[in-house]
Amino acid sequence: MKFDFDRVIDRRNTHSAKWDRMGAACNLDAPDAIAMWVADMDFAAPPAVREALMAEVERSTHGYYASNKGWREAQCDWLDRRHGWRPDPEWLSTTPGIVSALGLILQAFSEPDDEIIVFSPAYHAFRLIIEANSRRIHNVPMIEEQGRYRMDIERLSATMPKRGKIVFFCSPHNPGGRVWEREEIRALADFCAANDLLLVSDEIHCDLVYGGAKHLPTASVAPDIMDRLITCVSATKTFNLAGGHVGATITSNPDLKKKLDARINASALSSYNLFGMIATEAALRHGDEWLDQLLPYLEANRDHFANGIAKAVPGARAMHLEATYLAWVDFAGTGLERADVMDRITNKARVGVSPGPQFGPGGENHVRFNLATQRYWIDEALARLSEAFSDLG
Ligand SMILES: Cc1ncc(COP(=O)(O)O)c(C=O)c1O
Repeated sequence: MKFDFDRVIDRRNTHSAKWDRMGAACNLDAPDAIAMWVADMDFAAPPAVREALMAEVERSTHGYYASNKGWREAQCDWLDRRHGWRPDPEWLSTTPGIVSALGLILQAFSEPDDEIIVFSPAYHAFRLIIEANSRRIHNVPMIEEQGRYRMDIERLSATMPKRGKIVFFCSPHNPGGRVWEREEIRALADFCAANDLLLVSDEIHCDLVYGGAKHLPTASVAPDIMDRLITCVSATKTFNLAGGHVGATITSNPDLKKKLDARINASALSSYNLFGMIATEAALRHGDEWLDQLLPYLEANRDHFANGIAKAVPGARAMHLEATYLAWVDFAGTGLERADVMDRITNKARVGVSPGPQFGPGGENHVRFNLATQRYWIDEALARLSEAFSDLG
């Protein structure tokens, strides 16, 4: 292996939200706490990112960034190379990340009290940004079949709110780890067309897909609904650059693009973070080999953790992840109260996690664990969890 993903990097006291904000976010102040919550990785980014940033540091003149043309081209080349979809670079707008893109989309294309459709359990920031913009979240609980989620379009159809305007679609899905199949995306696209809904396809996890599964961009499955589609992509999850705060929206509909860009301008967001742009462009241009080696490492973590948690905590079951490094573990089979489960994980095992209820209906019995870390930490967490739940055995 050219890249050493086993090398432990001490991230404490480095302004790392994941390691330094566990007190506030996970109610966990123990000095030996293990961070397995917010979705970033404990690995060093690809060497090309370091080289590009080092060159910038050497220049030492960090003024305003100009022209995102090369960056847009790098993003489109990446999507073409990795996912067989080549958008026109002119369709892209740069945003300070995907959650901010979602907020801008809400402001551009809906009114306060409009309903935003989400398939729950869903990435909790969907709810937060919907509520922060005084819109309403319309949760459509997914159905779990043989350990996999599927979207319940019949239920969406039966409960379709009058003021339903936008669907936030997470593809691949966080926290269920689903890579949606063509027919599933097709059915959602058809529903949006029939009900005059804007479809926002958040594909931030599209590169983190494991053996056997293939991510299908919504735009390539349903080109006929391009006029009502906005795709959101970013290099930040893939390459561990979330602190760079860079993302892209992609739409081929000039009216949508114009309105969205007007919102971006109104928020004075059309000048971009120099470091984030340099880092993400370098990763998109030169990160393939690094990613190709990272994926088997993450996949092995997934399997190791799924087996380990079943042994460490009798009754706990990790959903099989087709994508993402976010293990979604159902603790219902332990027979324990939710508060007891959280107390054991947080206070006894000292592992910082994301509680399932954050993700809305369907997350009540779950806990999300971030597995994008060295095997060392996964083993340590499993050992502590085994101890904390030892009376169940
Ligand atoms: C589905 C999804 N969208 C967006 C984000 C965050 O994107 P950003 O940091 O670009 O706002 C995450 C992070 O976990 C995510 O899981």
